[in-house]
Amino acid sequence: MKFFIDTANLEEIEEMSAYGIVDGVTTNPSIIAREGKDLKETLIRICNMVDGPISGEVLALDAETMIKEGLEIAGWHRNMVVKIPMTPEGIKAVRALSAKGIRTNVTLVFSPAQAILPAKNHSLFVSPFIGWKEANGEDCKTYIQNIVDIYKNYGFYGKTQIICAAIRTPKQIVDCAVAGADIITTGLAVYQDTMKHAYTNQGIGTFIDAWNHTITE
Ligand code: E4P
Repeated sequence: MKFFIDTANLEEIEEMSAYGIVDGVTTNPSIIAREGKDLKETLIRICNMVDGPISGEVLALDAETMIKEGLEIAGWHRNMVVKIPMTPEGIKAVRALSAKGIRTNVTLVFSPAQAILPAKNHSLFVSPFIGWKEANGEDCKTYIQNIVDIYKNYGFYGKTQIICAAIRTPKQIVDCAVAGADIITTGLAVYQDTMKHAYTNQGIGTFIDAWNHTITE
């Protein structure tokens, strides 16, 4: 299982690197805007920090301009992956970019049906969103399991890698891992939450108390 970080914040990426768990980075226009920095400059800096796939999203909505933007983004650094929204125009752009050997990540996927065409058009990644659906009361275990099963049934599994995105909790990470997703992408705080458990803290307290008690007797 690979872990990508969904951020353009360089300090967060450094912190993730210290845990040894940054296999790649995903961004979207709102993430870049949050940092208030230049898109190209920020993404190139990230590419130089993390030697893995770094997704940068196109802004256009029509295939022709998406392809133009995608070619430009892919030319910034060998680590760049072109992130494209899951729309009919987006699928045309993925088809054209894949034919040129450019790696794509189809984003804003909310159903197993939407995950099929990116795979048929050789996108390297597909990003089904989890948190938005679960906030709406939908079950994401079945959703991710269905995508994994469809990909396995038709030879797409591993070729188009499933990035579970918009992850909000460690439990969602576990659900995606159990279903067989290839990659998780989320922010630093959720990865930090995976390292915590109330019993771990309780255990540390118990052991230290016991040790201190022994020393003073
Ligand atoms: C993933 O690739 C997206 O950048 C991201 O998960 C968007 O969703 P969020 O900002 O609601 O987490």
